[in-house]
Parts: sequence; C-alpha cells; structure tokens
Amino acid sequence: MSNTNEKYVFGRTQSAGEGNKKHFDSPIVSERKYHLSCGYSNWDRLLGKFDTTQRYYHGFDISPDQFPDDKGNIEFSVHNITAPFPEEHWNRYDLVHVRLLIAAIDEDEYKAAITNIHQILKPGGFLQWEEIDEVTYKLENNTVFEEIWRCFDSSFKAEGKCFRASAKVFEECMAAGYLNVERLAYSSDWDSNLRPDTEARFVAIFETLYASLLLRSGQVDDELAASKQAGELIKNYRHLCGNGNSPPLKLMRVIAQKETA
Ligand SMILES: C[S@@+](CC[C@H](N)C(=O)[O-])C[C@H]1O[C@@H](n2cnc3c(N)ncnc32)[C@H](O)[C@@H]1O
Repeated sequence: MSNTNEKYVFGRTQSAGEGNKKHFDSPIVSERKYHLSCGYSNWDRLLGKFDTTQRYYHGFDISPDQFPDDKGNIEFSVHNITAPFPEEHWNRYDLVHVRLLIAAIDEDEYKAAITNIHQILKPGGFLQWEEIDEVTYKLENNTVFEEIWRCFDSSFKAEGKCFRASAKVFEECMAAGYLNVERLAYSSDWDSNLRPDTEARFVAIFETLYASLLLRSGQVDDELAASKQAGELIKNYRHLCGNGNSPPLKLMRVIAQKETA
C-alpha cells in the first residue's frame, strides 16, 4: 500500500502497477510523442507498437522507479510536470499524452502542468489528457459506487486534489488559450466484451486507490483495516455485478490544440 506521507496516492509497488495496467489503451498518432507519466503502463505490449524508426518518443515521470527495465529505443527522463521542462523539449512534440494524474497532482497544480505542456508542444500540436474521475462514480442506486464517491470526494478534497479532474483540465486548457478544446467520455458499456475486464479494473481500483485513501484520510487506523474494508466493498461489488448491476467505466479524455503561430 502507499506511504501515507507521500503525495502520490498509489504506492510504488507491483500491486499498484497491476492496478495501473488495467486501463484503456490510447492511440498513438504522432511523429513525436511525449507520454506522461510513464508509470506502470503495459510497456511490453506498448513497446511493440512504437515505431521508433519513424517517430521519436520520450517518456517522463517524476520517479525513475516507474520506467521499464527494457526501454527499447524510447527516451525517458525524470521530470515533475508542475515544473517547466528543459529548453531542449520546447516546441518539440506533435502529441503529448497524459494519463491518470488525478491521484498525483493538486488542484492548484493543473494550471502549471497545462502551461508546461503548452511550452513543449509544436505549434498545432495536441495535448491528450485522460482521467477516470468523478464522472465514472456518479451513479445512483448503487451502494458501492456511492461509497466510492463519498470516500474519493472527501479524501481528494482533504488532500487538495481534484476529483473532477477532466473538467479541471478542460477549464485550464481554455484559460491557457489552447484551440479546439474538447472533453469526451468513452464508456466501457459500448462493447459488452469489455465487461469482465472492466469489473477486474474496478476491483483493482478498490484494492489500491480506495484502500489507500481510507488510510491516508484517517478513516481507518491501519493497512489491515483498510484492506478489510476494501475487501468488503469488493464482495458487495461482485454481488451487484452477479445480479446484473455492473456499472460501466468511463474514461474521460480532453483534447486540446496549441495555436499554430
Ligand atoms: C496512476 S499512474 C499512471 C501511469 C500511466 N500514465 C498510465 O496511465 O498507466 C501516475 C503516474 O504519475 C507519476 N507522477 C506523479 N506525480 C507526478 C508529477 N508531479 N509529475 C510527473 N509524473 C508524476 C507517478 O510516478 C506515476 O507513474
């Protein structure tokens, strides 16, 4: 589980990594792509998709522990997104892809992050930022999701983080002068084959983020109690799913373009 004093809510453990692997893939659409943050993305699978002979890829993360052992031909650098990037990266990227920083950065840090990304995009380049946020858990008549909402909303507020992450990214992109800013929702119920995987992903979120926030916010006394409470929630969740009440996972994506001149 996470170190409760560390700002990043997920621990840097294999189990957190397994949790982070359980998210949708994103398309790779650029000649120069910058992926932030690298985390535990499924690198074995992703590396095969990157054509590094045609395109340049650079991964950044605040922690080198998040980089894969086999880096292929991809460059990696340690960097905090809330600080300006070194000048060599300015105006360099066609696409900057960011995913799942909701548990990592504070509400008042989004502005700096979006400004820093603007600086490294080429004119006309795109930011694509994805989050699983409050939209997923806004669900009436589902006791499990009501509990998740309660826990995430109060814990994120107490930590100065932002549960409405995708809305915040959208607002800050508009304020920073990006063009063609869009906020889109991708729902797993668009494909019934995604259901088993979606359920496994929620279980991973409950085991990692939910348990971690319970402990960090002092709602339970220790890791054992957090894990027990998460276990109860997962039992109830599986019961609801077994009765045909399996909520979709909504991935929120904000797309924004840097002005051309
Ligand atoms: C939940 S993981 C997401 C990993 C990956 N983007 C994915 O979607 O699978 C969040 C990542 O953000 C990194 N991180 C946390 N705070 C950061 C910051 N201020 N700047 C850059 N990366 C940060 C963490 O080290 C971690 O790898």
